[in-house]
Amino acid sequence: MSTDAVANLLHESRHFPPSAEFAAQANAQPGLYDLADADRIKFWESQADRLSWHAKWQQALDWSDAPVAKWFVGGKLNVAYNCVDRHVEAGYGDRVALFWEGEPGDTRTITYAELKSEVSKAANALLQLGISAGDRVAIYLPMIPEAAIAMLACARIGAVHSVVFGGFSAEALRSRIEDAAAKLVITADGGYRRGSASALKPAVDEAVDASPTIERVLVVKRTNQDVAWFDRDVWWHDLVDAQSDQHDPVPFDSEHPLFILYTSGTTGKPKGILHTSGGYLTQASYTHFNVFDLKPETDIYWCTADVGWVTGHSYIVYGPMSNGTTQLMYEGTPDTPTKSRWWKLIEKYQVTQLYTAPTAIRTFMKWGDQFPAEADLSSLRLLGSVGEPINPEAWMWYREIIGNNNCPIVDTWWQTETGAIMISPLPGVSATKPGSAMTPLPGISAKIVDDAGKEVGLGHGGYLVLTEPWPSMLRGIWGDMARYQETYWSRFSNRYFAGDGAKWDEEGAIWLLGRVDDVMNVSGHRISTTEVESALVSHPAVAEAAVVGATDEVTGQGIVAFVILRAGHEHDDVIAELRNHVAKEIGPIAKPRQVMIVPELPKTRSGKIMRRLLRDVAENRELGDVTTLADSAVMKLISEGLATGGTED
Ligand code: PRX
Repeated sequence: MSTDAVANLLHESRHFPPSAEFAAQANAQPGLYDLADADRIKFWESQADRLSWHAKWQQALDWSDAPVAKWFVGGKLNVAYNCVDRHVEAGYGDRVALFWEGEPGDTRTITYAELKSEVSKAANALLQLGISAGDRVAIYLPMIPEAAIAMLACARIGAVHSVVFGGFSAEALRSRIEDAAAKLVITADGGYRRGSASALKPAVDEAVDASPTIERVLVVKRTNQDVAWFDRDVWWHDLVDAQSDQHDPVPFDSEHPLFILYTSGTTGKPKGILHTSGGYLTQASYTHFNVFDLKPETDIYWCTADVGWVTGHSYIVYGPMSNGTTQLMYEGTPDTPTKSRWWKLIEKYQVTQLYTAPTAIRTFMKWGDQFPAEADLSSLRLLGSVGEPINPEAWMWYREIIGNNNCPIVDTWWQTETGAIMISPLPGVSATKPGSAMTPLPGISAKIVDDAGKEVGLGHGGYLVLTEPWPSMLRGIWGDMARYQETYWSRFSNRYFAGDGAKWDEEGAIWLLGRVDDVMNVSGHRISTTEVESALVSHPAVAEAAVVGATDEVTGQGIVAFVILRAGHEHDDVIAELRNHVAKEIGPIAKPRQVMIVPELPKTRSGKIMRRLLRDVAENRELGDVTTLADSAVMKLISEGLATGGTED
């Protein structure tokens, strides 16, 4: 038996090197690793040269205030100028920036010149609303071009955006507005999902009613559905469309804050991950160019993430646009009107790179090969995966059925906190293995350590740590620097602990093994067990709750809740009611797959809930060691109590 901190018994011996043809034309050649190895800091400086700087930096890295890094110190730039204006100035104004398709099939095509006017008008509108550099703006939008335009408009005037995923509840939006003390919300009447208009504005109304810092709400008309209207509300088409399309981008310091993005940690309170400008954009740009082999003149790139997640920030907005990419943006769900929607989109727009999540890939596998077969996918030349470990079966299916065996797959490991891709194959260089993210990118230093912080050797597992600062690293947790230090830098001294288990195989490839803390990964989205527990306990029927992530064939992990009811609340609908309550409190993605009503919860003598045992029950495994249980009869009670377990709809 393995004695590693985190064990993995999987062995994978298949290798898929890139074709000679792909390798020859690839942006990233093997020399990139040597360049970074020779002088890491100089390497990052040469990557920063990808951007247009208003003033050159004096120092590449200042780590004297560790763990808060400063990159390209003294440099000045405007992020929006880098993503928009400079392409127009270079003569690419007519190049399409966005091919956008709404779920009902309506389309918009926006060139870089048009994007420049739209972003400038939106920037002028924000200024008119009294937003200035450093102010926080919450963005709660569907997948429409205004989402990217709003982000870039903030960046242009130095306002800090906090995008909140449109699937989050009013309460989730409210708490994020409060934490960031945002002054403005940018939203829409609604968006299209699953064939109908789904409202957004009511959640904003509810959140803003309880948010004293919000002064105005800027509303995009997307669905034309009825909305309640208040004095603080203003329509985007009234305000933005009336603005001048001229706006001079102001240069900001390299360390000027660019955005806050909230993510789940091990406690109930989401963390506002803070990213700044120069270093973030450098790494987003560098990774997008090299990992996706982006050829701006000919490629049509498609990242299927929502802008509400970090993948949408770094690989729809900032990375791709800094590289002058032409990309596809799609509003809706993959099975509307049919399960071949994505594949038809790829054929229609001649998509060359597809970047998506394992949960989507597994869903498509389940739906069957007939749907991709309905479309011509031969335009694809590279496939990407992100958000959770991709199992070898799904990797092989992606390669064969979607990639026709001739597209390199890049399995990219990173986090909201890392800002950009950290571990990934280079598509023209690496001989990939199904299920492995392979090796740290040039410029990145990752190690695997044991409980004591000692590096483990090839063939062994442990905890993934990052050992050198990187340009797009988070600069802290908004309003709580002590928590930043405590969460990421206290487990192993001077090393960033990512919260993931990983192992080296015998050949030096990294295999990610999932979270080792109390954070679940559901469909590639992080949700904390504590957060769901707090939501459950806020319901009057619940006395106590414990939540675990159980392996799920499609979503990676499914949320399973064990709940002790208060006396008198044992009625037939209570399970459905609790599931809906969590969806309302946090958002539909946090809705438990199962709620099990139990008489007791297993606890250690110190009162800590033993989630390991609950996970065993949730996954129907034989129970693990129960000797540390305060009362070992509890597990028997729980197993018997499973008769009252409710499952998914
Ligand atoms: O557990 C890892 C998993 O997703 C976590 C980061 O989640 P989030 O901040 O929401 O960002 C997701 C998109 C970057 C990581 O700690 N994860 C992400 N990518 C991979 C992954 N696990 C395995 N393989 C990946 N490629």
